[in-house]
Amino acid sequence: MESLESQNMEVSQLMRFQEKKRLEAIMNERRRIALDLHDGTIATLSAIKIYFKSFEVYFSKLDHEKRQLYRKAMSLLGQTAEEIRLISHNLNDGTIQGFGLKKVLNDFIDKIQESYQIEIDFIMHDLVDTELSSKKEIAIYRIIQEGIHNVVKHANATNIRIKISIIGKNIVLKIIDNGVGFNPLKSISPGIGLKSMKSRTESLNGVLSITSRIEKGVTIIVKIPINI
Ligand SMILES: Nc1ncnc2c1ncn2[C@@H]1O[C@H](COP(=O)(O)OP(=O)(O)OP(=O)(O)O)[C@@H](O)[C@H]1O
Ligand SMILES: [Mg+2]
Repeated sequence: MESLESQNMEVSQLMRFQEKKRLEAIMNERRRIALDLHDGTIATLSAIKIYFKSFEVYFSKLDHEKRQLYRKAMSLLGQTAEEIRLISHNLNDGTIQGFGLKKVLNDFIDKIQESYQIEIDFIMHDLVDTELSSKKEIAIYRIIQEGIHNVVKHANATNIRIKISIIGKNIVLKIIDNGVGFNPLKSISPGIGLKSMKSRTESLNGVLSITSRIEKGVTIIVKIPINI
């Protein structure tokens, strides 16, 4: 007959397992809503903005009051997209804790590969997971997320290579695609993705570099000191 002690242990193991499953389900659901908002609703709002903008050719026919109304509507549209982006980011941030960056990134990469015709090679040094504060984990996750979104949106690439390693006293992250490339010095995009990658890196005393040539893809390298 099993002792009471070992029966209790099994019950508490089962409870821990059920709690883990429950948390996983909540996190998956949050991540799904966050991604739907980001890839669905924000993308649709951006399309509406582009259509709406095409009305500007009729501006000369409008009086001052109507132009003001148009500008107000445009600005509200922009604000709404930004609010949804924030909600989506907040929903997603909590997903890293408890799972580890590697798992969360692998899940994200799987989702991207399911939705787009792109091959993603992902290598992450096992040590990195244990060295990272949650602020660093979130920053790295966001940077890779935006990097991948940019590739699928702009690059027309067939392959992305992502590597996270520890070199000396730094975590080094590389995102390399084989797409159409762009001139980082000439980019006058109103987008916030690259800016936010840079500011996340700098908030952790890191440096971000982008090298790219037309038709030769883009390489993004982020170096973040470990002990911050
Ligand atoms: N991997 C890439 N390949 C080709 N072009 C890129 C790549 N990454 C960025 N770009 C170019 O740099 C511009 C700026 O990117 P950024 O992420 O800042 O803005 P966005 O993607 O246009 O908008 P947002 O990120 O705010 O949704 C893009 O519009 C695109 O022209
Ligand atoms: Mg972007």
